[in-house]
Amino acid sequence: MSDKFSEILVEELTESEAKDELARISRLIKKYDLSYYQDDEPLISDAEYDQLRLRNLYIEKKFEKLIRNDSPSNKVGVAVSNNFNKVNHNVPMLSLDNIFHENEIDNYLDKLRKLSQLKKNEILEFCVEPKVDGVSFSARYINGEFILGSTRGDGNEGEDITESLKLIPELKRKLIKSTNIPDILDIRGELYINKKNFSIINHQRGLKGEKLFANPRNAAAGLVRHINPNPNLLKMLNIFCYTWGEAKPILWKSQKEYLNNLKLWGCRTNPLTFICTTSLDLIKAYREISYKRDNLQYEIDGVVYKVNDLALQNKIGYQSRAPRWAIAHKFPAMQVESIVKAIDIQVGRTGVLTPVARLEPILVSGVIVSNATLHNEDEIIRKDIRVNDLVFIQRAGDVIPKVVSVVKDKRPKDSVKFKFPTRCPNCGSQAVRKKGEASRKCIAGLSCSAQIVERLKHFISKGAFD
Ligand code: IVH
Repeated sequence: MSDKFSEILVEELTESEAKDELARISRLIKKYDLSYYQDDEPLISDAEYDQLRLRNLYIEKKFEKLIRNDSPSNKVGVAVSNNFNKVNHNVPMLSLDNIFHENEIDNYLDKLRKLSQLKKNEILEFCVEPKVDGVSFSARYINGEFILGSTRGDGNEGEDITESLKLIPELKRKLIKSTNIPDILDIRGELYINKKNFSIINHQRGLKGEKLFANPRNAAAGLVRHINPNPNLLKMLNIFCYTWGEAKPILWKSQKEYLNNLKLWGCRTNPLTFICTTSLDLIKAYREISYKRDNLQYEIDGVVYKVNDLALQNKIGYQSRAPRWAIAHKFPAMQVESIVKAIDIQVGRTGVLTPVARLEPILVSGVIVSNATLHNEDEIIRKDIRVNDLVFIQRAGDVIPKVVSVVKDKRPKDSVKFKFPTRCPNCGSQAVRKKGEASRKCIAGLSCSAQIVERLKHFISKGAFD
């Protein structure tokens, strides 16, 4: 978050600062949501996004009277794109609240026990499932037959993706009549693309000079939200079913029973599902799933704890955008330490100078990382990144790795601030930064050989002259 405000502790904010900060966060979240949900192109990592939402929540907790009608805490996703027909969700598609540490579990359990008025000796049972990092969908079945598919949209209204869903082999067109099926049933779950198919699709896109998908979630969203669904690509999507929307009548009494019904109807469910009762059980399930994470064929970003019993779920209830009876326990962002060996400046096609950190090569969740983007001049100044610094690197999904922070106590004594060049490192011409612009540009145009090469590369690329 490129803003000084975000570094001020919530405790230290005055009321008027808090008001500005809430407005700022709301603006940022709107912007990030739009690019994430509508353009399928994330601007920041999921971890940073969660931090921003968390900060919003903390401020709202402290300054309750400043809560705005358009607070991000009350919203899910974004309004649907105009390219699609709209589908009204009779039962809203909700989001989940998050926790990030094992030590938050007890607190959550205490809250649930109070809300459900359980006596000391009464057991609270949970169904624990992986939180698959894909795109949520709703599939409507009338008398067991698939008739309508939609995205979550803003939670109340989604996009019609019926035709795309029909092309996904794992989506059941007709439920198996092995056990009773509600006359009306919205089966909900997650659409995703496995890691292997993600690389295949991106490789093909690269060869065609098309823009690469940032991560598997974006790939799944991009493929399913296409106005002309491509059968060959949609074949590569997978599905996990895990909840329901409208269901008339509801024929099950617990989450686990519903999952069993799904299996009997022929719908795909996640096999890594656990029934837990104590916080220790929940921690065990969380750890078990997180150990398996790297070996799974698909991306997960946490686990979900759901109160198993339906009657208890209803007693515990909902809060604006999320159920109270379920919570996501997110995995920490994938961060590792490395050393900045050099800071190089790359000259782009239009002359923009982009700083890149050359790192001591390091393994981040299975991928060797030796470069990290530093974005621009201000980013280096704000984080005060210097050559020989020990830094934290984060790779979120398959987004380009970035330097999250500098370990300042480990900084060598003779370290000097990085000076951003005011001349082009390639041709020596002036590099100018216009007022209001984030980037500095070499002014030489086609007299700069780096720009010529970059333009030529662009010109002959698949998307252009091929
Ligand atoms: S339950 C009312 N279960 O996570 C319950 N959600 O951050 C709503 N997700 O919108 C969701 N795996 O897209 C549930 N096993 C799982 C999930 C899951 C992934 C997604 C879902 C939801 C988002 C919330």
